[in-house]
Amino acid sequence: MICCYIYADLKQTDMKYEKVIIIGASSGIGEGLARAFAEEGCKIGILARREELLQNLDAEYPNVFLIRVCDITKEEPENYLQPVIDQLDGFDLLILSAGVGYQNRELDPDKEIRTAQTNVVAFTKIMMFAYKYFEKKGEGHIVGISSIAGIRGLDVCPSYSASKGYEALYLESLRRKARKSGLNIKILTVLPGFVDTAMGQGDHVFWRASVKKAVSQIKTAIYKGYGRAYITRRWRVIAWILKFVPRWIFERA
Ligand SMILES: NC(=O)c1ccc[n+]([C@@H]2O[C@H](COP(=O)([O-])OP(=O)(O)OC[C@H]3O[C@@H](n4cnc5c(N)ncnc54)[C@H](OP(=O)(O)O)[C@@H]3O)[C@@H](O)[C@H]2O)c1
Repeated sequence: MICCYIYADLKQTDMKYEKVIIIGASSGIGEGLARAFAEEGCKIGILARREELLQNLDAEYPNVFLIRVCDITKEEPENYLQPVIDQLDGFDLLILSAGVGYQNRELDPDKEIRTAQTNVVAFTKIMMFAYKYFEKKGEGHIVGISSIAGIRGLDVCPSYSASKGYEALYLESLRRKARKSGLNIKILTVLPGFVDTAMGQGDHVFWRASVKKAVSQIKTAIYKGYGRAYITRRWRVIAWILKFVPRWIFERA
């Protein structure tokens, strides 16, 4: 019995991805994942708005990356993903790391709406595109990066918190859909606490993980075929508390 588990584990961790697409690869977690998969010998499509940062990455790892500059809130996935897929001649793994988030106590409409356009509208379009692509192909792997901030509503960042809750539920829905359809489409929801990127800064930040550690744990979750991964793992405890604390306590906290 134990041997079966070890064998299953080995089979999953031995799996290799040849063609990967990372949206939001110009900085932070997406950039870290791009480096990690580059070091494994994958061919990788990297997408974001800041071309110079993508070019810098490309210069470090020659003949690994295909660059596509795009703004996911202004273009349709068909326009920016299809040319990358054509150049790669298909893909096995899509990682959507692009996202925005602001502390917005003053409820600046621009920040609230921009967050929803990126983390909800563009997110949904990309997920639908990827799911349908893998549905046709019969298999594939999708990774979306939600947040611990999406477990309960947060007063300092309403749109961010709500959008991350949306992402987590959307990914869970797709996971159920794939399972019920008998398709070999794996879907991973990543739930980071704080990671040391531009977005992970602030006054009351704690347990902040380095990008290296976050990337290593996300990669492990991908290779093990997990449905959900807390980054770092100890955030599972905070998630559990947040889920079960009664509303009347949470709203006063
Ligand atoms: N850092 C944390 O503590 C933390 C915690 C929980 C969840 N997360 C989530 O992790 C993900 C990655 O964030 P990060 O921490 O790595 O921050 P980051 O360094 O700011 O990375 C965000 C990435 O998203 C891309 N992006 C944003 N808007 C885009 C648009 N309209 N079109 C195309 N690309 C766009 C950015 O590229 P360009 O600006 O070049 O377009 C950048 O590559 C986000 O979804 C975030 O919500 C982060």
